[in-house]
Amino acid sequence: MPTFFIETFGCQMNVADSDTLAELLSMRGYSAASDAGSADLVVVNTCSVREHAEKRAKARIAHYAGRKAAGAALWVVGCMAERMGDSLRSEIRGVDQVIGATRIEHLSHDLDRYLGELASQSDTAVSAAPGVSMFLPIMRGCDNYCAYCVVPYVRGREHSIAKSVLLDKARRMARQGVKEITLLGQNVNSYRDGDTDFAALLRLMHDVEGIVRIRFTTSHPKDCSEKLVRTVAELPKLCSHFHLPIQSGSSRILERMNRTYTCDDYLRRVDTIRSLVADVDITTDIMVGFPAETDDDFRQTLSLVDLVRFTSAFMFAYSERDGTAAASMDGQVPQQEKKRRLEELITLQTAITKECYASMVGRTVDVLFTERQKRRDRAWMGQDAGCKRVLVRCEESLAGTILPMKIARSTGMTLIGERPAQCDS
Ligand code: SAH
Ligand code: SF4
Ligand code: F3S
Repeated sequence: MPTFFIETFGCQMNVADSDTLAELLSMRGYSAASDAGSADLVVVNTCSVREHAEKRAKARIAHYAGRKAAGAALWVVGCMAERMGDSLRSEIRGVDQVIGATRIEHLSHDLDRYLGELASQSDTAVSAAPGVSMFLPIMRGCDNYCAYCVVPYVRGREHSIAKSVLLDKARRMARQGVKEITLLGQNVNSYRDGDTDFAALLRLMHDVEGIVRIRFTTSHPKDCSEKLVRTVAELPKLCSHFHLPIQSGSSRILERMNRTYTCDDYLRRVDTIRSLVADVDITTDIMVGFPAETDDDFRQTLSLVDLVRFTSAFMFAYSERDGTAAASMDGQVPQQEKKRRLEELITLQTAITKECYASMVGRTVDVLFTERQKRRDRAWMGQDAGCKRVLVRCEESLAGTILPMKIARSTGMTLIGERPAQCDS
């Protein structure tokens, strides 16, 4: 049986694409290799969002190219593949295929052509078993053109996937034992298929039997309507978590970023969410050092973070991306200053995250267990109905079960549950 190995960089969309590729390869008789060295096909799924992400991916590609076994193939797919195209093959010798992110959607159609002589004749193909929690992209691309962002250039125009296709996929996942689905899109809440908006899609998904939890990411503040928030509050399978990137706490910078909302708009959304959804986790993305961000703008970001008290946040230093509007803006902030601001922001948010987690100690929360933790092999990992990770020591398999867990302590970023009775064996 031929084997494959996929390494994935970037966001959940890439994780979902890698899962799709793995499934398509499995259906053609490939099985997953435990390491790249022994695989017939090595795939690196890449991200272009920041310079650092591209550097890391290139280093891995060069690493695999240098150790390629005779007859093995190396493919580069995803966002950097889209951005760089075949120039990647001249930059790194040994790359056999470059498949851009906009082609991934058509993979089931194109894969045999890409496989060429690698194509397998096997008729004993079995599809790999999916996990407890799976991603389901409901739309692709992005039309927002935030001034700093490469995504619209590498993922193409925004379009929603037909609800009938999505419901079929969700039902199939449920039949395969999937318990939790995370709906994905760059602006997941701007979904629309005819009369079906995102809130209506959530209702349809809610009726899929066997799925016990539904999550979604990323929400754009501009489309986070009260109707959507009410729908989340009303439907029991919907998790109490909104990932709502703010990017900056300065309305002046938000305008330069082309985010189309002000800080006040954002804060009103937060109030609506908190007033309607019980025990809700709100998380965010924040960037420091966007062109012309002054120390005063940055202080406003710190104040907003202090005011909102996000459960957690992804925080980044602005990275210049060729071809974006921000790359040609005046007032680029020196690297050292970006680094200093990022460190100050991370210190503040880490303290807030710790407080959020510590406040859970002694409470009992429903945890859906998804997988055994790789490092501490007797711990099971799950999530509460918000976004918090919960670990519990247990020999028995807890995969796919929801259990009420009393929280014994917090490590700062993870909650530790008391051992439930069924784990005592
Ligand atoms: N579609 C999502 C975000 C996708 S990219 C949204 O609109 O919120 C994920 C995050 O990476 C962004 O929220 C932003 O904080 C960060 N990011 C995007 N481009 C960046 C850049 N050029 N430099 C630094 N961070 C960036
Ligand atoms: Fe990038 Fe903005 Fe689109 Fe998000 S909404 S992917 S940040 S352009
Ligand atoms: Fe995601 Fe990176 Fe592409 S964040 S959409 S993998 S550029």
